[in-house]
Formats: sequence, C-alpha cells, structure tokens
Amino acid sequence: RVTTLDGHDGHTGGHDAAATSVDALVAPSGPPDVAVTFTARAERVEIVPGTTVDAYTVNGTTPGPTLHATQGDLVEVTFVNESVPGGATLHWHGVDVPNAADGVAGVTQDAVPVGGSFTYRFVASDAGTYWYHSHQVSHEQVRKGLLGALVVSPSPGAPVAGGRDVARLLGDAVDVPALVHRYGPRRTVQGAPGDLPVDVPAGRAARVRVINTDNGVLPVWVGGAAFRLVAVDGTDVHDPPEVRDRAVVVPAGGRADLLVVAPADGSTARVELGGASAVVVGQDGAASAPTRRPKATLDPLTYGTPAPLGLDPARADRSFDYVVGRAPGFLDGKPGMHWTVNGHTYPDVPMFEVAQGDVVRMRIDNRSGVPHPMHLHGHHVVVLARDGVAASGSPWWTDSLEVGDGEAYDVAFVADNPGVWMDHCHNLPHATQGLVAHLMYT
Ligand code: C2O
Ligand code: CU
Repeated sequence: RVTTLDGHDGHTGGHDAAATSVDALVAPSGPPDVAVTFTARAERVEIVPGTTVDAYTVNGTTPGPTLHATQGDLVEVTFVNESVPGGATLHWHGVDVPNAADGVAGVTQDAVPVGGSFTYRFVASDAGTYWYHSHQVSHEQVRKGLLGALVVSPSPGAPVAGGRDVARLLGDAVDVPALVHRYGPRRTVQGAPGDLPVDVPAGRAARVRVINTDNGVLPVWVGGAAFRLVAVDGTDVHDPPEVRDRAVVVPAGGRADLLVVAPADGSTARVELGGASAVVVGQDGAASAPTRRPKATLDPLTYGTPAPLGLDPARADRSFDYVVGRAPGFLDGKPGMHWTVNGHTYPDVPMFEVAQGDVVRMRIDNRSGVPHPMHLHGHHVVVLARDGVAASGSPWWTDSLEVGDGEAYDVAFVADNPGVWMDHCHNLPHATQGLVAHLMYT
C-alpha cells in the first residue's frame, strides 16, 4: 500500500469502516454499455512545436480521451498504470459514483502500482459535464495531465430544463468539450494552446462545456454574442435567460456549459477562456480578435428561475460548520502555515458523520485569508445562501464551490450515497497542506 498525501493512509478508517450498506458501496454488476481501457504513462509531450513537458498521459495523450456516455449507461473503465511512478488512480470528478469507484488512493482503494490495473464501474445516472483525474498525489499528477473530460448526454427524449427555445437550441447544438489545463506557463484547451475553432453554421448553437482543471478560477465570457449558462457542475440551470457582457467564474474543478448561437451575419462568437485562448464559434476560418473581460459577473445565486430543491433545508437532520482557517503547525514533519478545518489540520480533522437519508446542512465559512474551491465527493450540494443572502435563482447545485475569503456559504444536500467521501479544497496544493475533511456514513 502506498501512503499518499491525499489519503494519509490509516487515518480515515478505510472503506471497511463505512460498510453499512455494502450493496450501495460496490459497483453495479451486469454487462457494461460503455467499456474502455485507459492506460496511463509517464512521457514527454509536445505542447507546441519545440516545447515539450514531462507529463502523464492516458492512451498516449494529455488530456486523455473524452469519455462519452449516455445517461443511464453502465460505464466500465479498466485503468492500467503502465509507468506512472508511485501509483495512480482515476477519480470521476462530479459524478456521484458508488464509493468503491471513487478512486481516492488511501481511502477507497490503493493506488494502482506500475504494472497494475483497477476496474471502475458506475452508472452515469446524471447527464452533464464532468472530468476524470488521478487522485494519488493529485497536486502533481493532475498538474502533469493525468486527466480527461467525461460527457454524459441526456437519454433521448429526456425533458430539457429551460423552455422551448432553449430546448430547441440545445437539441440541435454542436457539442464542444473544452477542457482547460495549464502545462507550465501555457494554458491549453483540449490539449492545445491558442484558439479552438468550431465550425457552426450561422443561427445554430454550440454547447461549450468548459472544464476548469487548474488550481485557480477561470473567468469565461463571450465576445460577439449573447449566451446562456445552461448548466453548472453537470446540473441544468432552470430557465436560463440570455445575457451579454457577463463573466462566468468557473472554480477550480468546476464546469460551466455555455449555449452560444453562431451570429446570423456570419461573424464569430468567442467563448473566452481566461483571455489567453477561446472557443471560436462560427464559420470555420472567420477571423476574430480577443475581447475584453466584462466588468459584471454572472452570479449563479440569482441567475435563472427558482424551482423545487427536492429537499427541505428547514428539516435538516444534521448541521455542520466547515470553518476554514490558517494556523502554524507540522505536516509530515515539516513546520509551516497550514490550512485548518474547524481548527484542525488533516489528517486530524474529525469526520462529519451522517446517516443514510439525512438532510444535511453545512455552513462553509472561510476565514483563512485566501479563496478556496471546495469540492465534496459523491454528492452535489445546493446553495441556500451566501453571507446570509438567500439564493433567489435556479437551484444552484454544485460540487466545486468557490468560497472567497471572508465569505460564508450555507449549503444543503441529501446523504444518499453511503461511504467515506472527501470534502476538500481543489486548489490541490492546499489539500496537500491539510485542507481536507471527510464525510462518513455511520
Ligand atoms: Cu477532483 Cu478530490 O477531486
Ligand atoms: Cu484552498
């Protein structure tokens, strides 16, 4: 067994401790609808002609292949570690998989050593935009590119949130995964620096699935057209209105799906990815110049139309505080400033204990001096309020929530996926420095 910074072997109780309902923990049986083999390697990769980096690849590329599934599919991924030193895993970021398939080294499985393999099985029960990445020494393996996009398409005939107009545009939209990752100083989209042109006839829409795999926020905006934010972290926005001149801030680990119609006059719309590159929507080859970030930001707290949450936060079975702080201490024998959760640094953070079926409230309160993109595994949480201001838009379900310094978010979720689940900062060096907690079913 490899001891990892992610798992801190031995401190979580391992997967046996939470085996309250074994059937829910383990992977589903039966023949898979989607079956792939992903082979990870350490190799040098040319990012631009003449610039190569030390990287980790999946089936020979970084990012690895985009994994496509349809809602309801049983997905089976055989992961083979050919040459990633220290072992590797795959975690399905944003997919509420059974605990045994969560891919957290030291918690739900051992890291797959060089020459080993591990089979992940899960049902892709929610359509949306996700990604996969190693969860062994993640701050290093993710940075080096052991990752890829996962797109789950809605089952045919599934209802589309957002009214007839949006449904028509979405039904006919060109689907564009846009995984953003930095290799050294170079920001790339789908593994290449610069713009990603997509040939979309005038009047037709593109659904651009932005995936932020870096450690900091990614501001996204659209130059040359209006747009709709149709999904956040894999969950559809209810009745997304058309907006212009707004930036969408995608937290580390987060996803934002933008629906953009190619301009009728044959010009292009630029889905700007932080400013260094863009997805260029329009007739292929049409010229376009970078645009400036708008001053206003789209706030998911107020965007879209309210709809039932599917849980009653007033009848919570448990309420937790998750206070993020900073304190001097020792980690792996080294002194320094570390992040704290309720005054403790991982692995000494007490677990949040829940029982199956609980409605859980949590207040994430950041008093640490810097922002943290908080990521809960195995569940989505709905935002109830920020700094005491109640959410008033579409239900904002998220798995990767940017919590600014001094901000406090009230969130709620249903404990409906037994196991031991990480709840950590996705600025991955922060996780290494102790900003990790676990949710455990008792
Ligand atoms: Cu994207 Cu715990 O990870
Ligand atoms: Cu952080």
